[in-house]
Amino acid sequence: MSFKKIAVLFVFISFLSSCKTEEYVTEIPQIIPIPSSLVVNQGFFLIDKTINITYDETFAISGDFLRKFLKQDTNIESTSSSTIQFIFDDTIENDEGYQLEIQPFKIIISAKTDRGAFYAVQTLRQLLPPEFETGSFSEEKQRIQCMTITDAPQFKYRGMHLDVSRHMFSADFIKKYIDALAMLKMNTFHWHLTEDQGWRIEIKKYPKLQEIAAYRNETLIGHYSDQPHQFDGEQYGGFYTQEEVKDIVAYAQSRHITIIPEIEMPGHAQAAIAAYPNLGCTGEQVNVATKWGVFEHIYCSKDETFDFLEDVLDEVTSLFPSEYIHIGGDEAPKTNWKTCEQCQNRIKTEGLKDEHELQNYFITRIEKYLNSKGKQIIGWDEILEGGLAPNATVMSWRGTNGAVAAAKQKHNVIMTPTSHCYFDYYQSTNPDEPLAFGGFLPLEKVYSFNPIPEELSTEESKYILGAQGNIWTEYIPTEDQVEYMAFPRILAMSEVVWSKNENKDYSNFVKRVEHFNKRLDVLDINYANHLYEIEGELISEENKNYYKLSTTLEDKTIYYTLDGSPVNLFSHVYTEPIPITESTKIKAAVFNTEKRLGNVFSETINYHKAVGKKITINKTPHKSYTGSGPEGLINGISGSDSRYGDKEWLGFWGEDIEIVIDLGEEIEINSIETRFYNGKGQWIYAPKNIIAYYDDGSSSKINFSTSDDIIIKASLVTHTGLREGLKTRYIKLKVENYGTIPDGKQGAGQKAWTFIDEIIIN
Ligand code: ACM
Ligand code: ZN
Repeated sequence: MSFKKIAVLFVFISFLSSCKTEEYVTEIPQIIPIPSSLVVNQGFFLIDKTINITYDETFAISGDFLRKFLKQDTNIESTSSSTIQFIFDDTIENDEGYQLEIQPFKIIISAKTDRGAFYAVQTLRQLLPPEFETGSFSEEKQRIQCMTITDAPQFKYRGMHLDVSRHMFSADFIKKYIDALAMLKMNTFHWHLTEDQGWRIEIKKYPKLQEIAAYRNETLIGHYSDQPHQFDGEQYGGFYTQEEVKDIVAYAQSRHITIIPEIEMPGHAQAAIAAYPNLGCTGEQVNVATKWGVFEHIYCSKDETFDFLEDVLDEVTSLFPSEYIHIGGDEAPKTNWKTCEQCQNRIKTEGLKDEHELQNYFITRIEKYLNSKGKQIIGWDEILEGGLAPNATVMSWRGTNGAVAAAKQKHNVIMTPTSHCYFDYYQSTNPDEPLAFGGFLPLEKVYSFNPIPEELSTEESKYILGAQGNIWTEYIPTEDQVEYMAFPRILAMSEVVWSKNENKDYSNFVKRVEHFNKRLDVLDINYANHLYEIEGELISEENKNYYKLSTTLEDKTIYYTLDGSPVNLFSHVYTEPIPITESTKIKAAVFNTEKRLGNVFSETINYHKAVGKKITINKTPHKSYTGSGPEGLINGISGSDSRYGDKEWLGFWGEDIEIVIDLGEEIEINSIETRFYNGKGQWIYAPKNIIAYYDDGSSSKINFSTSDDIIIKASLVTHTGLREGLKTRYIKLKVENYGTIPDGKQGAGQKAWTFIDEIIIN
């Protein structure tokens, strides 16, 4: 049988969901993460469970995985004339690369390692109907389009993290999570095992870690920002036994997933200190934490603590074959170290400058110990403070500065900045979303992530090993909700770390996500579906304002109303931007011919005197929080009350800013109101003060209170007193940043953020 290539090299970016030529109808594969290159050929391979699969020991894991996936009985010899053959090919450059050649009677998987072959199998898996996932496919043979895929990852480190301390999940769920990573060609699971709120790994030498540190008396209800704090009064906890850990590690190995365990130090240690108070500086009996945040009870730097940690690490390293152990290092307030005799002694005897250098001493001493056992350490980017331990890999989470500093010092880096990698943030502005930490990280923003910081040279960027998504679980109590927060953002992350930049295209990606969702349904994975949601934007042209609607998936029909009435199939069909001349309440939704597909989009445009006028700011917002530019401050739309990262809020880190609004002509103004986000747990503070200046040289000023309200409003000009009848064309607003975050607060010693939106002028 011969087969003729269709003379088209498919460039993925221009993919349609099917492609007709005069002679054939070819099925275009929809693979996530998108492969490096794919050429579709004529013909089909027919597959069923009797297929003949041949592989030797080199490909034991991937071959076995495929047989199991096809529900083959390993005792029965195949009688099929079609084969799937695994071939060793050391001309393939990348250890994790592969070629997948699908011919009418033969599939050839070529790779240099079992890992490469495993990823070929994951690709093949996505070419089969989702029903194969559960074995519920019919006995009939299935067709797979003939094609050649040549593929390899862009990054060596492709990870997902899961915090099992704030909330704990079953061993079976951990395996399901690992399965999902493997399906998406990720290779690392970062297992965050210890925290203030619970110690989750059995350590045989220290039974109180199981008896005391693994349980908290109760848990905070609602969001940390909801005051006063309320608790559920129910004990919560548990731990993974060493037997369970071994079983999970073996399970991960059989999917080419490395598990990196994290044992936090010197901070986030309150649970351990509750079990063994001597590990802290004060010896005080404390409880396992029952609310979220950063706690001052951290490990003391006395020898006794190191003895404990070395014992713990002995047991941990015997369970995890990973080259890396994550030792935490983040968010360790130095309050207790400052007044602890033993810590101050340590500073003296070791000739250290201050408590930051003591943290470096702490981490370096642990690194030395782990290096002596053949292990390397990873730490959060705080391990840069006071100097880096000599061989440490840095996990950069507070933006990318840590990554840049570490790479320039020739240290390896894993990228996980909050702005693009924190999957505990909201993924939609829809008010029906489940309670989350805060922030806003929609699918598109994850997808847009480039793990290489632009400040790095080509040489320096070699130190960027890859990236990972993080799932912190303060507000994620159930397994269903872990999946909801992970999916579909993990799909975007898989493409960020695996696929070539030139193959990435968001509108093509979301079509593949829509297709992939059917596989998630079959796998019983709970995912967020915001594909049918609508985005809105105020645009201004030639002094006129319009409202533009768009959907994530381009081929859908939007219906809308402008009077606040419910939207249905009898509402207006959206064809072009809607003129806006007054305050308007827009409702819109995507419908197919029968029913609504996504949530109803609702936006209130609060029309005021500055809408669509000119605005300039003397500083550019932080690159992670640029909103929709300065114009967004006067577009009639106020930033969300709970998601400071939405496209309205502009974020500035530690900077004073000056904003100038040009109203076009001198007009009378009666009031100016500005809104600031005030999320102290997230290092966001209302400014110290704000001053407005007018054409006549007069000004007005507001100092801010220390209110805990999430949104702080400032009214600058009111109808009262002298300001009545004020006329001006220009308004200059000086906004003075809060400054340094005080001791005892989260982010103490860091610069505070200012988040602003909207400036309402009437
Ligand atoms: C972190 O989010 N504290 C690493
Ligand atoms: Zn101490």
